Amino acid sequence: MGLLENKIAIVTGAGSGIGRASAHRFATEGAAVVVADLREAKAIEVAEAITESGGHARAMRVNVADADDVERMVSDTVDTMGGLDVLFSNAGTLRPGTAEELTVDDWDLVMAVNVRSVFLGAKFAVPAMRARGGGSIINTASISGLHGDGGAICYAASKAAVINLTRALSTDYAPEGIRVNAICPGTIETPPIKRMMDMPGALETNLRAHALGRLGQPEEIAAAAVWLASEESSFVTGEHLVVDGGLRAQSPLGRLADPRPAHKRTV
Ligand SMILES: NC(=O)c1ccc[n+]([C@@H]2O[C@H](COP(=O)([O-])OP(=O)(O)OC[C@H]3O[C@@H](n4cnc5c(N)ncnc54)[C@H](O)[C@@H]3O)[C@@H](O)[C@H]2O)c1
Repeated sequence: MGLLENKIAIVTGAGSGIGRASAHRFATEGAAVVVADLREAKAIEVAEAITESGGHARAMRVNVADADDVERMVSDTVDTMGGLDVLFSNAGTLRPGTAEELTVDDWDLVMAVNVRSVFLGAKFAVPAMRARGGGSIINTASISGLHGDGGAICYAASKAAVINLTRALSTDYAPEGIRVNAICPGTIETPPIKRMMDMPGALETNLRAHALGRLGQPEEIAAAAVWLASEESSFVTGEHLVVDGGLRAQSPLGRLADPRPAHKRTV
């Protein structure tokens, strides 16, 4: 018996990376999954792979920043799958830049895809979950939402907003049995991160930053998402779950003291 047996779930940004791994894992745990992504071909690919391995999935092209799209995503799910129990608002985007470098359009795009999406997801998912007597909303934040690292100021601001929006939503809907939590991943080996790691020194710096001395895998975030989606986390709401391979556990001084990646250190 899977952890999500008889549950109906939407995963956004499910065409790639963390969302893709989560859609697969949700289906393995018994959920019927709506695989939502801006890139329809990617969503179809993931939904077909789930169906081929015996799961139940449906692809949808959705722009999570667009209110009509998100409303349709939820109403189509209810109409075709029979309801909604779990929403994993995971789609996100990043535009690098300091205040001077970042364009106003880039600021608006990042805030819309990363933050407005969480508001819209809750806005339309809550009535559907209420009709089922409760539910679980999970939002992908980031460790970038917990620090003031420069160079991607809008991303950092957007993910901090996701963490506090999660808390605020959780208090509004806790009385109705709708839990709302966030996940803060460290550096996870997804397609955009793999491209980023090609930059000189980036991989070494990231290996050193994580106490476990490696990058995370999308499946390791999917495992956290399944837990938050399931009844196993029934007393958890308003929380941001940090899944970062010990990144926050180390001080910058500790990282500098031994420049080798953690997995190569002797005791
Ligand atoms: N990979 C990491 O190290 C890391 C760390 C912390 C947080 N995150 C967050 O995890 C989430 C997933 O990132 P990932 O690394 O798996 O990236 P990814 O690029 O592999 O997957 C993101 C998916 O979201 C989709 N998407 C983008 N904009 C969209 C929109 N407007 N509407 C619908 N879908 C859209 C993309 O098409 C893509 O398929 C993001 O919110 C990201 O900010 C990632």
